[in-house]
Amino acid sequence: MFPAMTAEGNHRAVAVFDSGVGGLTVVRSLLRTMPGEDIVYLGDSARVPYGIKSLQTVRRFAMEDAAFLGRFAPKLLVVACNTAAAAAGEAIRSVSPAPVVDVIAPGVAAALASTAGGIGVAATQATVRSGAYQRAILAVDPTREVRAVACPLLVPIVEEGRDEDDPIVNHVLCDYLHDLQRMRPGALILGCTHYPLLARAIGKLMGPQTVLISSAEAAAEEVRRHLEESGLRNPRSAGGRLECYTTDNPERFAELTERFGGRAADVVHYVGTDELETLSSSSDRNHENPR
Ligand code: DGL
Repeated sequence: MFPAMTAEGNHRAVAVFDSGVGGLTVVRSLLRTMPGEDIVYLGDSARVPYGIKSLQTVRRFAMEDAAFLGRFAPKLLVVACNTAAAAAGEAIRSVSPAPVVDVIAPGVAAALASTAGGIGVAATQATVRSGAYQRAILAVDPTREVRAVACPLLVPIVEEGRDEDDPIVNHVLCDYLHDLQRMRPGALILGCTHYPLLARAIGKLMGPQTVLISSAEAAAEEVRRHLEESGLRNPRSAGGRLECYTTDNPERFAELTERFGGRAADVVHYVGTDELETLSSSSDRNHENPR
């Protein structure tokens, strides 16, 4: 399914994909510490949101996204979408010729390191239903109290551009975070690409005893560590190129890039979902019932 890597060395791009623009929060964190890296980014905006779909469907989309980026022979593939990582992280890892970093393991490691207490997770419905965060935490420390809460309205709210002082945002957050406030966890993982944009409001509601862990920042840190340890860090200290692909309107994507990614894209191309589908082997369309 994936083409073999052809380009050589540390000048190859880091490939990143997400269900839409949200994964640009991971790109923002990446470029903050590694501004010289070239990034090729795919946002599957035509099929966003992944977070309310079945794990089987998300897995199929995620495999298609990863296969598309394999064309660029990246030095590293980053699954920036928490829902895609929850549904397909292992499946992608098993077929990708490039090493894979996803947002879940780094977020969990950062949360475990930050507190000896309970850990809350805020994520999409599909991510919560997959149990991926809960399993990853308990695999390391089975004694931890873990509570995962789905917050489905937060993605459209953030995409609509509502800011953290908006009463609607606070109303919705109060409703979703109620159980987590009562739990008073030592750490709360923001297990969705969009939630770091609401970090100030979430932090205010959770109180100072709860450390907020951005899975985007934790993943960016893991990328840096991986590139440095494998000698693949681009020697340039600035001037990395951000090349984006979207399955929907490139103009709309370009508008949102700055807000989510903290900088403009150098170029935004359109790629159709039909093209992504043809790259994916039909064997992935397995016969399980959608969950
Ligand atoms: N990117 C998704 C995530 O991090 C959020 C948006 C969606 O539901 O597709 O889970």
